Amino acid sequence: MCGIVGYTGINQVLPSLLKGLEKLEYRGYDSAGVYVSNGAAGDFLIREKGRVSKLEAATKGKGIAGTAGIAHTRWATHGGVSVENAHPHMSEDGRFYLVHNGVIENYDELRDTYLQGVTLHSETDTEIAVQLIDKFSKEDQLSTLDAFRKMIALLDDNSAYGFLLMDRETPNLMYAAKKKSPLLIGVSDSGNVVTSDAAAMLDVTQNFIELMDGEVAIIDKAKVTLFDAAGQEITREAFHIDIDASETDKGVYPYYMLKEVDEQAIVARTLSQHYFDDDNQIQNIDPAIIEAIQSADRLYIVAAGTSYHAGLVGKRYFEQWTGKPTEVHISSEFAYDQPLLSDKPFFIFLSQSGETADSREVLDNVIKQGFGSLTIANVMNSTLTREADFALPLLAGPEIAVASTKAYTAQIIVEAILAHAAGNSTLDLKHELAKVAVEMQVIIDQKEVFKTIAESALRDRRSAFYIGRGLDAAVAVEAALKLKEISYVQTEGFAAGELKHGTISLIEEGTPVFALLTQTKTAGLVRGEIAQVTARGANAVIISSKALAKAGDAYVLPEVNELLMPLLTVIPAQLIAYYATLDRGLDVDRPRNLAKSVTVQ
Ligand code: F6R
Repeated sequence: MCGIVGYTGINQVLPSLLKGLEKLEYRGYDSAGVYVSNGAAGDFLIREKGRVSKLEAATKGKGIAGTAGIAHTRWATHGGVSVENAHPHMSEDGRFYLVHNGVIENYDELRDTYLQGVTLHSETDTEIAVQLIDKFSKEDQLSTLDAFRKMIALLDDNSAYGFLLMDRETPNLMYAAKKKSPLLIGVSDSGNVVTSDAAAMLDVTQNFIELMDGEVAIIDKAKVTLFDAAGQEITREAFHIDIDASETDKGVYPYYMLKEVDEQAIVARTLSQHYFDDDNQIQNIDPAIIEAIQSADRLYIVAAGTSYHAGLVGKRYFEQWTGKPTEVHISSEFAYDQPLLSDKPFFIFLSQSGETADSREVLDNVIKQGFGSLTIANVMNSTLTREADFALPLLAGPEIAVASTKAYTAQIIVEAILAHAAGNSTLDLKHELAKVAVEMQVIIDQKEVFKTIAESALRDRRSAFYIGRGLDAAVAVEAALKLKEISYVQTEGFAAGELKHGTISLIEEGTPVFALLTQTKTAGLVRGEIAQVTARGANAVIISSKALAKAGDAYVLPEVNELLMPLLTVIPAQLIAYYATLDRGLDVDRPRNLAKSVTVQ
């Protein structure tokens, strides 16, 4: 997590850095800071607790000028949220400035071994790193590059880092290094950039060189020099990112989340066109992926958070259409408590960012054990897509809001298409997905209904439930996560039949219970469970499918194939979460304590 940007070039650096930070705020927004180097004319280090807008205000009127600098937006790991702990961190004599994403696991030990007598100004692992560079450059008379390398060599195996360093004595140079934390070097005629996410610097360039684990780079305004882990100079071509800077803007929307909810119908259409040709045949899926699924004796879907929830839905498609037993696992659990595996397992990683550290840990283990793997992710070229045997894109476009929406529906669609391609379903999936896209739009166009539901059911409420059975239970956990993570209404997503085994004791007068009712086989049972909670005072808000609707249901979903109903059911839940959050006067896109891409374990 955390976001890094840096620039060295011919233009004034501050506006690009601040704009880049704004784009990166989704990665963490506890505090932010910027260092602008201006050689002999002096330099500027400004850090603020809170949002980038606060940092921006703090830079006003200070006459900040300079054409090279680095900046950071933080999601706290080591050390609380304070100005002192904000990056960039500075060496004792103000020569070196460092921003860092990741975690240095052995920082205590490094401090005790090397930095006795050095006054530290923060509680962060990053400050240890910059003080070490300073120490090695002074005491061992090392060049900045060698001091940087020497510091990196001392980090233990579990440490993760994306570092960007500046040395006041060479004001136009940046030094970058990375391990297990993404860092890209952007190149352009007007200067070069370093960023943890290309989206942050698209206004400067769309051409990026990927930095690999263990590598170090020196970035000058007209030149990039890359060194491999052994210190040998290497070259690597830049790749072009086909995202327009405007795609990462909110446009006419007040919040990214609303924009991304709205984009779901388009994403559904895009995926259908990408994975099916005009004759309804599967395309753009490597036959080796299909072969790997077909020859496995069991599929293991591994993911975190919302992506895990998409896996719970996908399990149904893989089991029903390919006949393969399919397990869905939370990556942070699987990584350290691997269950007994079948003889021929095949792993499917689901991820929006492709950088989730918990999932990466599992993939590492899977690779070490020699098992096959596929990553389905939104950000291609991310670590999970690069390191798995195969990768498939979600094509959802940049997802910026912390609460994932379009990546969830895109994951479900790609799982369906893949299970269909590897299995024996007789469903005309292309046709069914076209219907889904149309009906998604119908729901999206009825936003006002969900605003009213959110305000009437959730205003002043501290807790809520989502219940359902089967595929509706899978959606219920995602619906609950959406509501709780942004509105802070404590919400449980529950298998409806399980309520009576304990949790029903939490139901009080007026407790909102959102019931999802789209699965024919269990509709009668869920109606019974709704009666059980209403008898105990709950305010049941029923979201049902047309075929199963009854008078009094709060919202009736349009009809699509029952297996694909999760793609519709989740949209009211996303919009209810959105409007409940607005109603509470909270920032929809930036819920407290969270960051978009969770790159620490
Ligand atoms: C919640 C949310 C998270 C992510 C989770 C995994 O709205 O976005 O729960 O789903 O952190 O992230 P990815 O999908 O990037 O691996």
